[in-house]
Parts: sequence; structure tokens; C-alpha cells
Amino acid sequence: MNRVCYRLSLTEGLNVTKSTRGEPLIVLEGVEKFFGGFQALHAINLTVFSGEVVVVIGPSGSGKSTLCRCINRLETIDAGQIMIDGERLPEEGRALARLRAEVGMVFQSFNLFAHKTALENVTLGPTKVKGIPRETAERRGRELLDRVGVGAKASSYPAQLSGGQQQRVAIARALAMDPKVILFDEPTSALDPEYIAEVLDVMAGLARDGMTMVVVTHEMGFARRAADRVVFMADGRILEEGTPEVFFGSPGTQRARDFLARVLTH
Ligand SMILES: Nc1ncnc2c1ncn2[C@@H]1O[C@H](COP(=O)(O)OP(=O)(O)OP(=O)(O)O)[C@@H](O)[C@H]1O
Ligand SMILES: [Mg+2]
Repeated sequence: MNRVCYRLSLTEGLNVTKSTRGEPLIVLEGVEKFFGGFQALHAINLTVFSGEVVVVIGPSGSGKSTLCRCINRLETIDAGQIMIDGERLPEEGRALARLRAEVGMVFQSFNLFAHKTALENVTLGPTKVKGIPRETAERRGRELLDRVGVGAKASSYPAQLSGGQQQRVAIARALAMDPKVILFDEPTSALDPEYIAEVLDVMAGLARDGMTMVVVTHEMGFARRAADRVVFMADGRILEEGTPEVFFGSPGTQRARDFLARVLTH
């Protein structure tokens, strides 16, 4: 086992020592994905270690969302294999439901239930899928809403919340299932600029607390400060991976240099 210690300077004056690299938690080997005749993923090999924050970046259409959806089994794969915590992803049935509960997902579009309050959104999974008693789920749900800074909005409906608040409820909902890993697919892309920082701060807090995270984002500042590893994808392939220092400091491919030149100057 390889233990690495990083010092992350998240905000001025606050240095957090973060140790990463536990056991392999997600392992993709030779994963290929086709949509009809179009190949969206080519021979993807990727290991995410327990406690690690992997940020996935790359141009539009490079396969980032497809990668997340395959890890969560929202899409089937055509070749290779995906293991979560040593278990091969099951095809269907109860084993799949259980494994899915272990992999949280936060989407660009929040996906909250419109006719349920913030608290109900957070307690639904634990009570319905995990059979946790309502009172216990509500107590935990309130704690989680507090943790993401929307405790005062427990009784509000999604339409009564800002985008940033809705996304933080969505993060609390993912946490409520006690997942082993959370996948974030562009969680701030649909937000008005003034709400982006509050969501990224919650995510940085989770990272600091040791949550294993795979984050697709265009927020390069977040990648720099919170990622243990940056994965760069283009045309359905992983072209580069490395620490933020190495990737941003000296990207090894022309594709990555072109991509960074575009996103860092726009
Ligand atoms: N359900 C689908 N049917 C057909 N093609 C698809 C489907 N989903 C994705 N694709 C194609 O697969 C490729 C990868 O798409 P994907 O959504 O994973 O890209 P992405 O990197 O997430 O892009 P973006 O940054 O725009 O979100 C694209 O060319 C896309 O058109
Ligand atoms: Mg996408």
C-alpha cells in the first residue's frame, strides 16, 4: 500500500494534511463502451483508491459522463470489467441495487423530487432502499443538511431553494446512503456564478474528510486545490493522469496543452 501525504491549502491560513491512497475502491480494466457503431470509451484503465479525489477533465464529448454512468451501472459496458470494492459490478437485480447504493451520484441538474421537501429528499433513499427507521433517517438527514449548510431549509421544496442550495441538498441526499464513493458529474455547471463557490466548498470539505470522490468538472481551481489526481480524457481515451502539480505544470500531450489554454484563458 502506497501512502502519500499532501498539504492542501484550501483557504489562506488553513492547511490541511490529507493522506490518500488506501485500498483500490474502483477498478476499471479495459472498459469499452459503444453507442451503436460509435465507440464512446476506449480501453479505459483506471483505479480510484479509497480516500482519493480524482478530478476528470476533458473537452465536450470526450466520454466523461459516460465513464461516470458506466461506474454507476446507468450504462452497460461492452468489454472489460468494473470492480467496486473488490466486487464485480453485477448485471441486475438486488446485488446491483445494493452496489448502486454504495456509489453516490450528483448530477449537473440536481434531480431532486419536486414534490418532496429537502428533508424528504434526503430521507427517501435510507427509508425506502435501506429500511432505516423514519426517525433515525430524519435525525441523520437533518445532520447532513446542517453539514452542507442548508439545515434551515429542511422543510422547503426544491422550487423554493436557490440552485446552490438545491445542489447541496443533492449532496446531502447522496451522503445519506453512506456511499463508499460519490461521483459528481459537472455539479456546478448549471449554477449561476454566485452559487458555484458554496457548492465547491462543500465538496472540498468532503474531500478533506476523506470521502472518495470522482469529480467531472470544468472548475480548474477546484481541480488544483482538491484533487489528488487529475485524469485528462479526449475522444473516449484517458490521455494523461497525474497530480495537479504535474498535470497543470507540465501537461504531457498537445491535446491537454490546447485544452488548458482554452479553459484557463476563457
Ligand atoms: N445515449 C447515447 N447515445 C448515443 N451517443 C451517446 C450517448 N451518450 C453519449 N453519447 C456520445 O458519447 C460521446 C461521449 O459523451 P459524454 O456525454 O460522455 O461526453 P462528456 O465528456 O461528458 O461531454 P460534456 O463535457 O459535453 O458533458 C459523445 O460523442 C456523445 O455524443
Ligand atoms: Mg458530460
